[in-house]
Amino acid sequence: MNKLKNIVILNGPNLNLLGTREPEIYGSRTLKDLEEMCISKGKDCSLNVIFEQSNSESKLVSFIQTAINASEGLIINAAAYSHTSVAILDALNAFAGYVIEVHISDISKREKFRQFSYVSLRADYIIMGRGLEGYIEAIEKMQQELKV
Ligand code: DQA
Repeated sequence: MNKLKNIVILNGPNLNLLGTREPEIYGSRTLKDLEEMCISKGKDCSLNVIFEQSNSESKLVSFIQTAINASEGLIINAAAYSHTSVAILDALNAFAGYVIEVHISDISKREKFRQFSYVSLRADYIIMGRGLEGYIEAIEKMQQELKV
């Protein structure tokens, strides 16, 4: 049997509050629901999903560094750090695999300060405004790109 390819899904600050945080923007499903959805979709796509969330910028940088040797693809919703973090951009630039940026909401239609994303400067593909389904679309896109 072929070994499954690993992909890492990283979630940034406050995404641990999914389900209760501004549900009119982010919906009523929780981070645990999202993790289960992603792992199950990964199995359907023959991908082993490593799912992480952190409120800490340094932990997110370390997760990206770990992915350099452990994963061919990275799906990242850096949340608020998307708009501020050169450190996350630098870490992503050190990662040679395929990078998909996901945002639950459509950041291009929100406040001005959300409309710029450092992550977008590295991302190979961007999905926004599709709710949690955006993660499912990202896994499908990853399957195509990694030719699984
Ligand atoms: C978000 C959008 C960001 O602006 C915000 O800070 C988040 C979530 C999204 O998924 O829509 O925390 O990345």
